[in-house]
Amino acid sequence: MRTSRWIIFAFFYCFSSSHAFGHDQNSSSNLPLGLPNTASIKGLNSNLVALGKRIFFDNSLSADKQVSCAGCHDPSHAFADPNPLSRGAFGQKGERHAPSILNSAFNTSQFWDGRSDSLEDQGLQPFTTSKEYGLRDVDELLQRLKASDGYQRLFRNAFPEKKRGEITASGVSKSISAFERTLLSGNSKFDRYTYGNESDALTASQMHGLGIFKGLGKCSGCHLIESNHALFTDGKFHNSSIGMERLAERLPAAVEAVLAAHARDEAAIGKLVLSSSDIAALGRFVVTNDPKDIGQFKTPSLRNVAITGPYMHDGSVSTLEEAVDLETYQRTDASGRPIILTPVERLELLDFLTTLTGSDTAALRHNIAAARSATTSLRRPY
Ligand code: HEC
Ligand code: HEC
Repeated sequence: MRTSRWIIFAFFYCFSSSHAFGHDQNSSSNLPLGLPNTASIKGLNSNLVALGKRIFFDNSLSADKQVSCAGCHDPSHAFADPNPLSRGAFGQKGERHAPSILNSAFNTSQFWDGRSDSLEDQGLQPFTTSKEYGLRDVDELLQRLKASDGYQRLFRNAFPEKKRGEITASGVSKSISAFERTLLSGNSKFDRYTYGNESDALTASQMHGLGIFKGLGKCSGCHLIESNHALFTDGKFHNSSIGMERLAERLPAAVEAVLAAHARDEAAIGKLVLSSSDIAALGRFVVTNDPKDIGQFKTPSLRNVAITGPYMHDGSVSTLEEAVDLETYQRTDASGRPIILTPVERLELLDFLTTLTGSDTAALRHNIAAARSATTSLRRPY
């Protein structure tokens, strides 16, 4: 019964002309199962979302006309980067792995070190980062938008109160974040089992895996599961041994460099993080300058984790098996009490993690072709 309802919804979802890209932004009844019912994702203006979507896919806004948000947050890879480290304009390699931005609407902070506190603030940063869009400044972005056919009209539709269709930086960040708030993914097998009363949504092995995730493995201590929703993150920062062993004797120099930089605003901290892999490995410390935060990173959500690899802040772990082994081993050390899984339990835990792939993730992928062709209708100056 529920399955057939879902198929009808999926059909409506794919062919309805009212949806902007992902989640239908004008009603809360379609909220994917298992996500929190947050005010910020409701009542989004579809013209604002349409503008944000254009910008998200538009390569012509980057210095070499090859880079867009979608290039690193690849919609066919659950909006994560299939490469360990992302490449920006002119092939420059960044220092961190680009995570999935599905459900980033619910993040309490943005980036692996939480250096940005909102999607609005985050949205402008990639444009002026040399290892991302590589533009000189925000003015250069505005010039490019003005020179491109179509944007004037999109801005006018999105901000009707500005009669002349003024193109502004705040308009860019508002529209990109509105679009990101439509990128929701829930309704996974786990959700249907836990929140949808579908007792047969999980196999026996996956149910055991869920039990290990919450019990023996202590995973849900940080990758949270709540009574009426689950984001699989606590939004907090925790120690990670990943990357630290490589840093070893260079640690004092990296710490010194951060303290000397005294970076205060989020954009400046971003530039500092991208300046070297040693500094990027310091994690939350670069934001707080507090020694206890050295090597602490934000708990990533595990939604869609089976399809978002490679893993961890530096993309250094290529398979889910390795990631789970590392987490089991490493978190064992942190709690002081060993977590010992039998080979069967390990497989059950892995099997459970594959149930976190949202059924809407595939639907979002189906919309890429439409979004791409909409973008290419913009005049490209190359
Ligand atoms: C060159 C690759 C690249 C481009 C282009 C890019 N990003 Fe990212 N993005 C990243 C990386 C790498 C991170 C993680 C950086 C960090 O944590 O220090 C990230 C992080 C984010 C986050 C934070 C997610 C979280 O869970 O903390 C959001 C949101 C985001 N990007 C949105 C965007 C938007 C919107 C655009 C386009 C305006 C964009 N990105 C362009 C690589 C890229
Ligand atoms: C103390 C908090 C904490 C606990 C407990 C914990 N994790 Fe994590 N997990 C994290 C943090 C923080 C990261 C990111 C580390 C990094 O990138 O350096 C992470 C990363 C991961 C990743 C990689 C995700 C990605 O997208 O890169 C997986 C998979 C994972 N954890 C699974 C588990 C499993 C399975 C358990 C239980 C055995 C577990 N975690 C227990 C905090 C925790």
